[in-house]
Amino acid sequence: MTPVSEVAAALKLTDRINRIEPSATLAVVAEADKLRQQGIDVVDFGAGEPHFNTPQHIKDAAIAAIQGNFTKYTAVGGTAELRDAIVHRHAVDFDSDYRREESIASTGGKHALFNAVQVLVDHGDEVVLSVPYWVSFKDIVRYAGGNCVLLETDEQQGFRITSKMIERLVTPRTKMIILNSPSNPSGAVMSPEDLTEVVRFAHERGIWVISDECYVYLNYTGKIFSVGSLREYKERMVIVGSLSKTYAMTGWRLGYALAPAPLVSALQKLQSQSTSNPTSIVQKAAVAALKGPQQCVLDMRAEYIKLRDHVVNGLRAIEGIRCTLPEGAFYAYPNISSFFGRGGIKAASDLAGRLLREAHVATVPGEGFGTSQHVRVSYATSVAELDRGLKRMKKFLGLL
Ligand SMILES: Cc1ncc(COP(=O)(O)O)c(C=O)c1O
Repeated sequence: MTPVSEVAAALKLTDRINRIEPSATLAVVAEADKLRQQGIDVVDFGAGEPHFNTPQHIKDAAIAAIQGNFTKYTAVGGTAELRDAIVHRHAVDFDSDYRREESIASTGGKHALFNAVQVLVDHGDEVVLSVPYWVSFKDIVRYAGGNCVLLETDEQQGFRITSKMIERLVTPRTKMIILNSPSNPSGAVMSPEDLTEVVRFAHERGIWVISDECYVYLNYTGKIFSVGSLREYKERMVIVGSLSKTYAMTGWRLGYALAPAPLVSALQKLQSQSTSNPTSIVQKAAVAALKGPQQCVLDMRAEYIKLRDHVVNGLRAIEGIRCTLPEGAFYAYPNISSFFGRGGIKAASDLAGRLLREAHVATVPGEGFGTSQHVRVSYATSVAELDRGLKRMKKFLGLL
């Protein structure tokens, strides 16, 4: 058979598509699916999505939209009703003061982020990313022609980022800093003070900040914070939000950006030439989510905290695993480096591969997030499923 790389070369694909890799997380999902199709019972700690169902009142709004024939094109950046709901929710929860013109609805948070990077990053621009980073940041920047400048963080310090650390990496080509608190994959949460310091620093130097706040409501520190509340620094700031994790709506594909109006116009221009509006029906569901009762968000958060404690205790009980306490999102990021050298394992990808194939537990190896000593364990699942997976991990790792 002809190697895939030769087939791709024959297609004469663009440089930009050849610069990026398929999402590491989606690759694990695909491999786990393949095993399942062979009848193998896989415990899935790989998927990055809530195990909850979308709340009923949100589903009802979508059904009503279909029945009411709300099925035509809408304005490219979303209906006025939805954009108002987005800015209203943000203002109530974070004391921000965005206007409708400073908001855009997109087909998921990833889409909003992708578009924001495409309109801001040019060839040769530098973008500061802290390690571990969410897989897509790096490839989205590369697709735009930008160069990622990696900010190494210290696991012992809870992967902390300060403006002093960023200062050392800034050059005349620095265009953007991407922040993600709570973080995927580490679950680390930046303090409001650190976030403010970094945003102020970037503002003073005219550097853009994209703050990916897809997990902003899944913050377990008791100090929920959005940089959007820092009204005086809005001029160079893009907030990316998503309904995916907050309302258990990953499949619906609805995210948004909050940014200065001229930037939103640029995002709309790009969206108008690519995807157009997010699905009309989903927009109605999103309005119900944002304007309806928020108890579902609080309930899910309370459940995630219990699951977090359960999985971290379980992981720490496995000899050889070190695990920091994640303060947000729904991932644990255990350090598994003490297993290196045992059974031919040299890196996280070896361990994750064998865990999947031999113990039938899907995790995501850290390499995709820029570290080779960790695997990502998604704990958005039931306690019973966590226990099944932890038991398999313990047995497998104990025999290495
Ligand atoms: C950090 C981060 N940003 C953005 C997204 C994108 O979410 P969505 O496109 O479903 O809104 C994800 C999803 O996993 C994520 O983890």
